[in-house]
Amino acid sequence: MSRTMPEPGLSGRTLGDAVSWSTDPYADALRNGRGPLFLRRTDGWLLPLDVERWCAGADAADLSALRRCEGPVLDIGCGPGRLVAALAARGHRVLGIDVSEAAVARTLRLGGSALHRSVFEPLPGEGRWGTVLLVDGNIGIGGDPRRLLHRTAALVAPGGLLIAETAPQDIDERVEVRLDDGRAAHAGAVPARPFLWARLGTPALLRQARPLGWHPADQWEADGRRFVSLRRERTVLTTSQSADTVNSAAVISSQFPRNTSGDSPLAGS
Ligand SMILES: C[S@@+](CC[C@H](N)C(=O)[O-])C[C@H]1O[C@@H](n2cnc3c(N)ncnc32)[C@H](O)[C@@H]1O
Repeated sequence: MSRTMPEPGLSGRTLGDAVSWSTDPYADALRNGRGPLFLRRTDGWLLPLDVERWCAGADAADLSALRRCEGPVLDIGCGPGRLVAALAARGHRVLGIDVSEAAVARTLRLGGSALHRSVFEPLPGEGRWGTVLLVDGNIGIGGDPRRLLHRTAALVAPGGLLIAETAPQDIDERVEVRLDDGRAAHAGAVPARPFLWARLGTPALLRQARPLGWHPADQWEADGRRFVSLRRERTVLTTSQSADTVNSAAVISSQFPRNTSGDSPLAGS
């Protein structure tokens, strides 16, 4: 297990995260449907991002997670929207959110519902989602898993599910990274701005989630990817207007979801 940085103070840094994912290297990769694209750590270590897979249809490992979804689903960091599209095709009410305009546009083109918004900003249906998804390493969003787990607890209904993909190794790592398409160094371009990211194996995720009222429901592996589902306590008290939400910057912009009806978190957003 490694912890490469001390506990970060994140108040100003999560906006850096939102800005970084909305810049060229990621938007270009989504437009082209392919990488190369990496998260580059300050020590030069590269984490490849699987843009081709994200831009393809949902695969068997994805479906192993989607089959476990209950009720209306919020896909946090939905990227180009393959999970949103697959869930909608299976009759789920589902909303994707992402800080990347290119990701939201692509999700909408697939016929999915998506909002251009950070998970740390006010969201429709807070406290009413049946399942929230943090897939493809998205437990790393904001570089502070505890804060993200606290935020997701405020988003799901009592007894609701969080389905997260964890790192294959037993790690607990918070790092400063930049998006890197491998071209900047050669072209002499200014490197993308740094932001905080986290990677967690299953043991670390369970350790951090339990004190926040998340109980392990299931753990599984599919095609070499690891997943965990956690159920929120029915009685836990969380404030939907947490300090994170109140202090967050104004919504960048929004495209309100279609298919809104009934007692769904998608209604009245
Ligand atoms: C590792 S990628 C995962 C991609 C994605 N799950 C997919 O299916 O393509 C992380 C995603 O989270 C988004 N993201 C980063 N910070 C975010 C935030 N604070 N709120 C919402 N989405 C965020 C990024 O724009 C990016 O699309």
